[in-house]
Amino acid sequence: MAGQCPLRRGGLHAGFVHNYKSETMDLHDTIRTYRLFSGSYDIVFGPVFHPGRKEAVRIANDRPGQHILEVGVGTGLSLPYFRKDSRVTGIDVSEEMLAKARRRAERLRLSHVEGLHVMDAENLEFPDNSFDAVLALYVASVVPNPARFAAEMRRVCIPGGTIVVVNHFTSDNLVARFIEKRLAGVARHIGFHADFPFDAFRRDSQLSIREVRPSNLFGYWKLLRCVNEKPASNPG
Ligand SMILES: C[S@@+](CC[C@H](N)C(=O)[O-])C[C@H]1O[C@@H](n2cnc3c(N)ncnc32)[C@H](O)[C@@H]1O
Repeated sequence: MAGQCPLRRGGLHAGFVHNYKSETMDLHDTIRTYRLFSGSYDIVFGPVFHPGRKEAVRIANDRPGQHILEVGVGTGLSLPYFRKDSRVTGIDVSEEMLAKARRRAERLRLSHVEGLHVMDAENLEFPDNSFDAVLALYVASVVPNPARFAAEMRRVCIPGGTIVVVNHFTSDNLVARFIEKRLAGVARHIGFHADFPFDAFRRDSQLSIREVRPSNLFGYWKLLRCVNEKPASNPG
C-alpha cells in the first residue's frame, strides 16, 4: 500500500473554493523544491519551528496508546516528541525528506514510529477513521489544494479525534502583508505560499477549529486545535 503512491495529479484543483495563490505550486514543483531543500532543511527550519512542533504533538498525543498520523512529516523533526506508547505513521511526497526521517527514527531508536511512507496528502491511502489524531505542521500552505488536504485529514481521523494544524497565515501587519504578497509570486521556488489567508482556510477546510494559539517567533505562526466533528457513519 504505502510507498507505491503514483502521486495522482489529475483533478488536483477540483473543489478548490478559494484562490489563495497567485502562483500555484503542483506536486512536481513541491517534490523538486524539497529535494533541493532536504540537505539544509534541519538547519534552516529546525529549531526556529520547534516550539510549534512540540506544542502540536503535546496537544494531539495527550493519551496513552494513540494511533497518530503526521501529514507532511518531512525530515521527521517532530518524531522524538511523541509518547513512547503511541503508534505514529508519517507520510510525505518527498523521498529525500522521508529518507532523513527514516534515518532519524533509526538513529534515535524511535520504536513508536510505525511507518514512513511516500504518499500525497490529498490522496491518503488509509481507510476512513484510521487514526485517533492527525497533525500537519507547516504543510497547509504547501499543498496544491488545501480544501482537499483538510478533507482527507477529516476522513482518516476518527469522529471526535484531534486534528492539529500549525501554519503561517497572511499577516495583519501591513508591512509583513506587502512582503507576503511579493513572495506569493515565487512560491514554487521557496516551497510554500507566504500569502495564505486564515479566513479562507477556515471556511474551505471545514475544520471545527476550537482554539487558535500564536506559535513560534512573535506568534507569526498559528496553531489550530480542531475536533473532528463528523457522524460516525459519515467519513466526509
Ligand atoms: C515546510 S515542510 C514541513 C515538514 C515538517 N512537517 C516539519 O515540521 O518540518 C513541508 C513538507 O510537506 C511536504 N508536502 C508538500 N506537499 C505535500 C503533499 N501534497 N503530500 C504530502 N506531503 C507534502 C513536503 O515534501 C515537505 O516535506
